[in-house]
Order: sequence, then C-alpha cells, then structure tokens
Amino acid sequence: MTAPAAPLPLTGTAEPDLVLAGIAKRFGDHVALGGIDLAVARGEFVAIMGPSGCGKTTLLRIIAGLERMDAGTIRLRGRSVGNVPVNKRNVRLVWQNYALFPHLDVKGNIGFGLSLRRLDKAAIRERVAAAAAMVSLDGFLDRRVTQLSGGQRQRVAIARALVTEPDILLLDEPLSALDAHLRVRMQGEMKRLQQRLGISFVYITHNQSEALSMADRVVVMNAGAIEQIDAPEKLYRRPRTRFVAEFVGANNLLEGTVAGFEDGHLLVDGTVGCMAAHWAADDGPPPARGTAVTLVVQAGKLRLNARSPRDNRVQARVVEREFSGTHVLYILRVEGSAGPAIEIRALMQDPLPDSVGAGFFDLYWSPEDVCVIGPGLLPRRIDAPGGGPGNARTGAASIPQLVGEDARG
Ligand SMILES: Nc1ncnc2c1ncn2[C@@H]1O[C@H](COP(=O)(O)OP(=O)(O)O)[C@@H](O)[C@H]1O
Ligand SMILES: [Mg+2]
Repeated sequence: MTAPAAPLPLTGTAEPDLVLAGIAKRFGDHVALGGIDLAVARGEFVAIMGPSGCGKTTLLRIIAGLERMDAGTIRLRGRSVGNVPVNKRNVRLVWQNYALFPHLDVKGNIGFGLSLRRLDKAAIRERVAAAAAMVSLDGFLDRRVTQLSGGQRQRVAIARALVTEPDILLLDEPLSALDAHLRVRMQGEMKRLQQRLGISFVYITHNQSEALSMADRVVVMNAGAIEQIDAPEKLYRRPRTRFVAEFVGANNLLEGTVAGFEDGHLLVDGTVGCMAAHWAADDGPPPARGTAVTLVVQAGKLRLNARSPRDNRVQARVVEREFSGTHVLYILRVEGSAGPAIEIRALMQDPLPDSVGAGFFDLYWSPEDVCVIGPGLLPRRIDAPGGGPGNARTGAASIPQLVGEDARG
C-alpha cells in the first residue's frame, strides 16, 4: 500500500493478453456474473478482490475454460477462445490447495504437463530445472511433495504452471492457506517473479492489503459485477462507491447534502457540520445542490488542532484507542452532532496528549483528502489496460469491439 503505483507495463498498440467482454453466468436462478468487462495488458498484474461468493472463482474458471459462460467473449492474446477447450488455451491456473500429486517428487510434479506433451527427457529436465530455480526450489527436485512446507508446495504449484510458458497465469487465492508471516514473504516473491518473467497475472484474493500491495490494477467485485477498476493508490484514495470504500478499509464515511460549489470545492452540509471537498475539473461537473453524498476521509488524514477554516472540523472525545506499534488508532465520538452519536476514526503517529481537558480534541482534515461518493458519480464498469484519466469515467471506448463473436446462449 505504501509502494507508489507501478507504471502500467504496456500501453501502446500491442494486443492485450486478455480481453473479457460481457461475461455472464447463471447457476439456476442465481446470477453469478452479470456481464464482466476487463482487459489485461501484457505483463500486467491484475488483482481481483471481493467478498466470498461474489463470483471470482467462477470468472477464473470461465477464463481457463473449466466453466461454460452463458454470454460474452474472451480473447487471449488476440485470439477468441470462447469455444476453445481448456487444454488448447494457453493459460494455467494455480489453486489455493496446490493440487499436487502426492506420489510424485518435485521434479515429477513440475514436469507433469511437459511429459504429456511428449517432449524428450533432456528438454524436460532442463525446463523443470529452470522453473524450479525461478521459485528457489533448485535443491528440492528429488523431494516428495509430502515432505515440503506449505510455502514450498505452493512454489511447486507455481513452477508447474510456469514450466509450460503460459500466456497468462490465473491464481485463485494462492496464498490463503499459508500463515500470515509466510504469506507476506510469498507476496513479495511472487510479485518479483511476475515482474521478472513479464507474464500477466490475474490474481484472486479476498484480502485487500494483498491486492493493494501486489497489483498494478485492482478489480473490486461485488455480487457478480465489477464496482471499480483502478491502480491501488487510486482505488484507496478515490473509491467510487460506498462498497469499494468500505472494502478497501475506508475509515470515515460522512453523510451530507451538497450545499454549493465554490473555488474548486464542493461544500457539503453534513452530520458533522460544514464540510469541503476538493473537486478537480476532470472530476466532471459537480453534483447539484441538494444531492445526498457520502464523503470518505481516511483515518490517517485527520490532524489534531490544526488551524483551519470552519469547514472539516469536529470536536470529539476519545472512546477507544488501539496501539499498533507505529501508530495509534483512535475512535472518537463527535460532540454536538444531532441525531445518533457519530464516531470518527483517527490514525495518529503520536499519541494524543492525555492532559487536554475532559478528553476533547479538535480534529481537522484537508479538502484535498476528501473523496466524494454519490449518485451520478458512477463507478466505471469497463476499463482497459493503461486506462488513464482520459477514460476514467467510462473507459468503454478503449475496449475492442468483440461483442457477439463467441457468445453462447
Ligand atoms: N457449480 C455451481 N453450482 C451452483 N452454484 C455455484 C456453482 N459454483 C459457484 N456457485 C455460486 O456462484 C456464486 C459465486 O461463487 P464463486 O465464484 O465460487 O465465488 P467466490 O470465488 O467469489 O467466492 C456463489 O453464490 C456460489 O455459491
Ligand atoms: Mg473463490
């Protein structure tokens, strides 16, 4: 999350590795996917995140050819593959549970796909050794996979997927069986491996910090639909829906009504008083007076006793504190607000002074640090690799026209 947004690896004219348009899937009455549009650039790391049951695995299985779609088109490296069987699509899937062969050793597992292709033994040995080296398993080729740790098994699964040189690697919560410490280490390893190889990854996770720290772009799914696609930092700073804001861990969602627009600032009358939000020209026309909006303010953006104009300022009393080692998270109750009590979360580098009378604090946040969510400020549903500010609102124009090509009823 602290890393700067990685530059998108490829824009230009080359064909994206993967283009999905209008992917739809039902199981009986249940709409698992309601029309998914997504393009993945060559060498791009795209994370798909969303709550359990939102359709992530179904989407991955459809891309791989393990599940039939009801409608939509899939292009892999420029080739329409909607009717191409799984073994003829040059994609590999890595599962959470590794799915290794327990009776084979590491080299047997890694080389399994190659032996099916009837490559000669020396060529297989060479490619297996190279794939094992990529995931630092050089010394383990003769080990039974049952003698390996969880992290080592997942590396075998990754090497087995990479050894056949897929156009794209699909990973379904590959690290979720690992303990927290190993998981963080493997995240770094996988990201570096992906960058070194330049193979595009579509990486599913329900863990938001994993998605934000690893991916070039993050897709947030909810109930079979895409809510937002953006670079991690943008997603975090500019969530377009309440769902995304909550899912990426937005800390303060403040309700209000638009009261006006002045000097590039949206003015909002809210439950915690007058609020101002910076509104850039390329954010589009500001919402009209009277529109109900939600303002998102990250906990880390609250300042103590800042000299400020009257806007974006609350007086609050600490009700809870949580020390994390580097920061203290405070939960404060806003004073003087009408209606039900409002709590606000503030992440402070330094503890708030204990000596302040009766535990009241003046907190302030900058209009620059406010993100506005509201009707008419729609999330973009379609995105293309390298999608910059030019198509930030719809992105639709950048998707090649594919509709109907290999959709099946
Ligand atoms: N083979 C199936 N038959 C019926 N329902 C299914 C099947 N596979 C998935 N579903 C349903 O589709 C929805 C999406 O599932 P899934 O793609 O596995 O979600 P996720 O991976 O995001 O947790 C869930 O409600 C799930 O119960
Ligand atoms: Mg799943």
